Order: sequence, then C-alpha cells, then structure tokens
Amino acid sequence: MNILHLSDLHLCPEGMKAYGVVDSHALAQRACETIAQLAVRADAVIITGDLADCGFAEEYQRLNGILARLAPLPVFLIPGNHDRREEMLAQLPGLRHSEDFIQYSVEDFPVRLVLLDSVVAGETHGELCPARLAWLERTLAAEPERETMIALHHPPFLTGVKQFDDINLRNHAEFRALIARHKQVTRIISGHHHRMIVGNVAQAIGFVAPSIAYQFMLTHDADIEMGFNLEPSAFLLHSWTPEQGFVTQSAFVEPFPGPFPILLGEDYPGRAVS
Ligand SMILES: [Fe+2]
Ligand SMILES: [Fe+2]
Repeated sequence: MNILHLSDLHLCPEGMKAYGVVDSHALAQRACETIAQLAVRADAVIITGDLADCGFAEEYQRLNGILARLAPLPVFLIPGNHDRREEMLAQLPGLRHSEDFIQYSVEDFPVRLVLLDSVVAGETHGELCPARLAWLERTLAAEPERETMIALHHPPFLTGVKQFDDINLRNHAEFRALIARHKQVTRIISGHHHRMIVGNVAQAIGFVAPSIAYQFMLTHDADIEMGFNLEPSAFLLHSWTPEQGFVTQSAFVEPFPGPFPILLGEDYPGRAVS
C-alpha cells in the first residue's frame, strides 16, 4: 500500500501568485506530472490542508482541475487554516464529511485512514474541540485491531521552533493522551509547517510534509520573523507492508539532473589500492 502525501498547495485565483512570489498552481500541476511519471504504484493521495490560499470558490475550482490530473487515484482531502469549510463543501463534489466537520474514515485499504478537521475558523492555530475528540475516540474504538494512519493539518507535537509551536495543534497533549489509548495508530501525518519534520505522538510517529508551494526557513531563533523560501517543493511517500509496517520517503516536485550510472572510472584512485 503506497500513499502519496502532499500538503499546503495554497492555490490562488488565476493570474495571482502566493505572496506575489510563488506560482502555486503551476507547482501543483508539476507535482501531478511528477506523480504520473513516478516509478511507484500509488494507491491513494492525501492532501493535508491549505488547499487554497484564501478559501475562495475559484481556488477550489482550480483544485478540481488538479484532482482531475491525479485521476484515477483516489484523493482524500482535509482543510487547513487557509481553507473555508463551506466553500470546500460547495465546490468539491463528493467531499466526505461528518457532522459539522470535514473529517471521515477510509476503510478501503489494509491500513485504516482517519482524516481529521483541526481548523478553528479565523485562527492560524488548530484545535480539536470536544465534539471532534469524541468522534475520534468513537471512530478509533470501533476498529481497535486495524492498523491506522491519522491525517490532520496542524502538527500535534512540539518542534522546538517557537514560530511553529505557537500555531500547532493547541491541545496536542490531550490528543496525544487519546492516541496513547489506541495502540493501533502508528502514523500521524500533517502539513502546516511547510518543512519535512518527524516527531513522536505517543506510540505513533508523526510526519510533517513539506509544502508543494513554498517552504518555511529552518531556525531555532525565536526572535526572528518567520519567512518562506524557495527550497525545492516536495511530497512524501508512506509505504506499508504487513511485514514492515510503514516506511516513509520524500520526493521532489521538480526534476534534477540524473540518474547517473554508479560506475568507477579507470582513473578512480581507489582502484590502485585494491
Ligand atoms: Fe500552509
Ligand atoms: Fe496551515
């Protein structure tokens, strides 16, 4: 089972760039081309929020174009803080949701997927309110024997980067305690921080995917203003087998030179030693 994990597309209206710098729609299209050429048989795509930059109808219409490029792969979506639930539900046909939130489970694969809505409308940070935590507890309790991956936009662990930790899943301690009660949860995937980050969430390993659009800088300086850069856009591949469980690798959106054959030249100095 191979899951492609993309995050933070930040699609803008036609003719607009994110923050005036990044053509995020072109990068999302490039990601689709890269996925189509990937020598990996993917089973599904999960996009962990910030699908749109402002949550406008036009941005989700552009997202529909991106999803069409990924077809026939099933794509599972959750909202980020830049998204608007009402507009997502209005513009994305077939988008699954539960009660008042865009969260649902997927039962079609050897590993169960549970997708959570961590958005607090109008806020940058995330939080799972009592209703969403109760839904999660019920959903996990229903299938205690099935290995489970959880996806939510806001990372539920501390990174040591103050600018990130100020806007993560605010009740991450409560979330972690819940996860610890459900040992079948082995992976928790997120976005939001626009960097590849790995951390612990009770017995599970948490992954933050890089952004398809732009990356946030690496810093432990709590006093500087966080800015973005144009490090290569990337996404993650979470592969699962019954023998190994999950293994995660990253892939870049844009092509690089290579591959080159691993051949030693006649003038390779190590030849003389052997
Ligand atoms: Fe984002
Ligand atoms: Fe975000």
